[in-house]
Amino acid sequence: MERRSRLFDSVVVGGQPLPNRIVLPPLTRSRATDHGVPTPLMEEYYRQRSGAGLVIIEGTVITPQATAYPRVPGLYSAEQVAAWRPVVAAAKRDGAAVYAQLWHVGRQSHSSVQPDGLPPKAPSPIPITGFQYRSANGRIPYETPRELTTAEIADIVQAYGTAARNAVRAGFDGVELHAANGYLVDQFLNDGSNHRTDQYGGPLENRTRFLLEVIAEMARHLPAGRIGVRLSPSSDWMDAHDSDKRALYSAVVRRLNGLGLAYLHLVEPEIAGSTTVDRPADSIPTASLASLFDGAVIVTGGHDQESGERLLADGIADLVGFGRLFIANPDLPRRFRTRAPLEPLRPAGIYGGGPEGYTDYPSLAISGV
Ligand SMILES: Cc1cc2nc3c(=O)[nH]c(=O)nc-3n(C[C@H](O)[C@H](O)[C@H](O)COP(=O)(O)O)c2cc1C
Repeated sequence: MERRSRLFDSVVVGGQPLPNRIVLPPLTRSRATDHGVPTPLMEEYYRQRSGAGLVIIEGTVITPQATAYPRVPGLYSAEQVAAWRPVVAAAKRDGAAVYAQLWHVGRQSHSSVQPDGLPPKAPSPIPITGFQYRSANGRIPYETPRELTTAEIADIVQAYGTAARNAVRAGFDGVELHAANGYLVDQFLNDGSNHRTDQYGGPLENRTRFLLEVIAEMARHLPAGRIGVRLSPSSDWMDAHDSDKRALYSAVVRRLNGLGLAYLHLVEPEIAGSTTVDRPADSIPTASLASLFDGAVIVTGGHDQESGERLLADGIADLVGFGRLFIANPDLPRRFRTRAPLEPLRPAGIYGGGPEGYTDYPSLAISGV
């Protein structure tokens, strides 16, 4: 006998009832303007995927310096705020909660996309090794970043707050802090990228300081219950190395407890950024970190309907993210519900371009359901 689906149970996140437990996780698609302004094409894309219970809008940069790639959207200008409004409204069409993922890439940027044309800034002057930057002219080595001063750190903390305030003004229900995938927050957490000797480096208490300051600053502009945090605890993608990841991320999750956050969003160990890899030998089981958290947990990475249902049935997750499946299947919840076949992901148009590979994936005809 087929077990009852839990993916279609409603759930309350941040005090908001969601129609189902299916999450559109943040997916960078590079369809904003060259000035990081959302476009009508993005509105169409999110409208198509509005059947999720929670829509987490793609990585959105908090300042012009925070970006690594062209055509990534931002939340730092009045023009951007105005242009987000119809996109957010479209994503809310079917009752989804809509969060913005706030992003600063730190050392994953490059002088070619920095406003001052100089290398990016990061916790310590340690370049990413083992990976290459995807520049307009092909892959090139990462540069040695400049070390952030404490005054610059304070400015970035404040910029997260401003972006959160702008998110509220644009109609977002909440924000997700991107603390995963070796970006700036993760660079502070990991001792491989943080060699600072001030209050932001050294012991765990210091390396988690930036994360907690950012959350506190954002919570000045919206309730903590509308702030989520995303972590990729087992990933060493983009040279995210720590001498003891298990101790680090267990401590991070414990420190997030008691803040009254909307959710913790965990990326599965077999995900390296946007691709599936072998589970690292020293990976931390998602269930063990999830069990440390006192609020709602989202798990994303390599899941399909069946494994997603299992995560819910086993009590590991409260909601499940489906990234690549949602790119290729805009009406993924309806397809899950009706057990309809899924479209495969096509390589064309994943990052940048126009409608091809973005808004041209078919939805099921309603009459056929
Ligand atoms: C095209 C693409 C863009 C992505 N952009 C982001 C992003 O902006 N922020 C983020 O945290 N993760 C990003 N990811 C990672 C996804 O959110 C997700 O963790 C990953 O795809 C694994 O889930 P899946 O197996 O369901 O696709 C991206 C993944 C893909 C495929």
